[in-house]
Amino acid sequence: MSNKIAAPDAHKVSHAYQDTNNVPSRIRALPDIVANQIAAGEVVERPASVIKELIENSIDAGALSVTVSFRNGGKSLIEVIDDGHGMGRDDAILAFERHATSKIQDVADLKAVATLGFRGEALPSIASVSRLSLTTCPGGGETGVEVIIEGGKLKDVRDAPPIPGTRTQVRSLFFNVPARRKFLRSESVEAAHCHEAAVREALGRPDRGFTLLRDGKAVFEARPESGGEIDRRIAALFGGKILEQITPVECAYAGMTLSGYVSRPGVTRAGRDLQYVFINGRYVRDRLVGKALADGYRSLLPRGRFPMIFLWLTIPPDRVDVNVSPTKTEVRFVDAGSMFHLVKSGVADALQAPGGRERPGFAPSGVGLRRDFAGPAAVAKTREFYEPVAALDTSEKTDTAPQAAPAQAEPAQAELLHFDTAIPDTFVAVGQVFKSFILIEDGDRLLLIDQHTAHERVNYERLTLRYREGRIDSQELLFPVQLELTARDADLMRRAVTQFERLGFFLDHFGENSFVLRAAPSLLLETDHQAVILDIIDTVARDGLGASLDAVGEAAINIMACRGAVKAGQTLDREEIRNLVESLKRCRLPFTCPHGRPVALTLEKKDLLKGFLRK
Ligand SMILES: Nc1ncnc2c1ncn2[C@@H]1O[C@H](COP(=O)(O)OP(=O)(O)O)[C@@H](O)[C@H]1O
Ligand SMILES: [Mg+2]
Repeated sequence: MSNKIAAPDAHKVSHAYQDTNNVPSRIRALPDIVANQIAAGEVVERPASVIKELIENSIDAGALSVTVSFRNGGKSLIEVIDDGHGMGRDDAILAFERHATSKIQDVADLKAVATLGFRGEALPSIASVSRLSLTTCPGGGETGVEVIIEGGKLKDVRDAPPIPGTRTQVRSLFFNVPARRKFLRSESVEAAHCHEAAVREALGRPDRGFTLLRDGKAVFEARPESGGEIDRRIAALFGGKILEQITPVECAYAGMTLSGYVSRPGVTRAGRDLQYVFINGRYVRDRLVGKALADGYRSLLPRGRFPMIFLWLTIPPDRVDVNVSPTKTEVRFVDAGSMFHLVKSGVADALQAPGGRERPGFAPSGVGLRRDFAGPAAVAKTREFYEPVAALDTSEKTDTAPQAAPAQAEPAQAELLHFDTAIPDTFVAVGQVFKSFILIEDGDRLLLIDQHTAHERVNYERLTLRYREGRIDSQELLFPVQLELTARDADLMRRAVTQFERLGFFLDHFGENSFVLRAAPSLLLETDHQAVILDIIDTVARDGLGASLDAVGEAAINIMACRGAVKAGQTLDREEIRNLVESLKRCRLPFTCPHGRPVALTLEKKDLLKGFLRK
């Protein structure tokens, strides 16, 4: 058996000498056991970290199937069994040497890491804070070997029956580091973290099979997808229903590819759970990727609501540095700009693609109208579908614990109204109801359009376009309006006066804190200009965006779009209805208002028939 692991041993050399001035040396190289425990402080935060590292070793060993089990939130036992290439006797021992790895050999390799592991830290770290047993056998070998290590001390190396791969058992995590053990959370919290760690790995590699058992019970079983079909993997982990709520992303740019799924417009969640980004199969949390995603979703998300994200980014390994943190969840991009563009436009394009109106299974079996359909919450109904996964708050800064998954999922609620993403080409405008909603007949469905939200969307897109072109239609006021501002507002206004002109507001400075408004955007002719201007200034001041002119534009357009839109309670005639729907049809993203509230809901004829018991 060839020795796959290159073990540097320089770190074992310990020099204790006195210099020529006879000053005794204070510095000593730490014994391995101490060094490993220090490394464990970074690599092994909790049981879930052990699961992550062991699964990654199995994947790197070419395993096609990985079985993970844990007991008591991973505190008493974690076991990972794989059918990878295994190890010979020498390697199995060497694997526990600090910085011993088979995955890279020199600095050059570090520039293009293609494996999940490469630091050679995980096994020695884990072994230094637990009772570990590793049984392994190289492919085709006749005898296996079991290595037993307790608290970093090698206890035994003995023959074992040949198994097709490697089995690692980690018991009593932190038994010898009481301080760390004390900081572990409740069993259910740790179990939720373990679950999440396994989900991340299983999502990252759809081509491998994964089984997760918690206290002996199967949590999920995901078969290997030979074609790497990620939709099937998502379904295996979160339930098939989720597929109806996501839309595919597929694009390439500058040698990078992006593929996966994101939630359809209008489908949002209260938290950032169900957001997974993988770079070359590695789960990462990256601020820049997050920003690109947010930009891609711009104007489709209500405040405090989040999309579902399942994205796989492939970047040539030498274009991304994964050696940034010990847990490797952070990365550095050689070409951050291109990555940003790829993610942002990839997501934006996917959201623009006409949403499929045919969504089998989306319609409910029963009849019953959700009362809260008007709010964005109504369209965020993934909860019942994914519930097996704990709602984890994985945000790095907060130390909030994940809530363990409730034993029972919420009963699926029957719904008659569906969030819709397609405004029909030809339609019959039935009329207006409650002076708030427009009714449209389109084949076998009835569309209800929120007149204010719809108009807001139309205005928003029109204004954004004109603003970019540098001209928003403006009209002289018959009676100029005098504005008395506070010192703060006046200061802001002075700095943003050209910006306001681009927005269509022409103001003259009229001494100290006074201004005179001579012309206003045509869209807003019938509104209270002063109120709009003060609104814009307020938002800008509150968000602390005083300096950034583009931010002023963005905030202003949002406000103008809303102020210039018809309100609920306003009667619309046929002509106005038709104009509004026609303009909406031409929108790039006709699904939500700029704040993410749905524009249209549909009622299917077949559901009506069902309701009237006419089948
Ligand atoms: N499940 C496994 N199957 C085969 N070899 C393994 C397995 N786990 C670990 N190894 C070997 O042990 C070495 C050390 O593992 P680890 O400490 O996790 O470091 P790294 O993964 O960074 O190389 C790996 O490089 C690999 O050669
Ligand atoms: Mg490893």
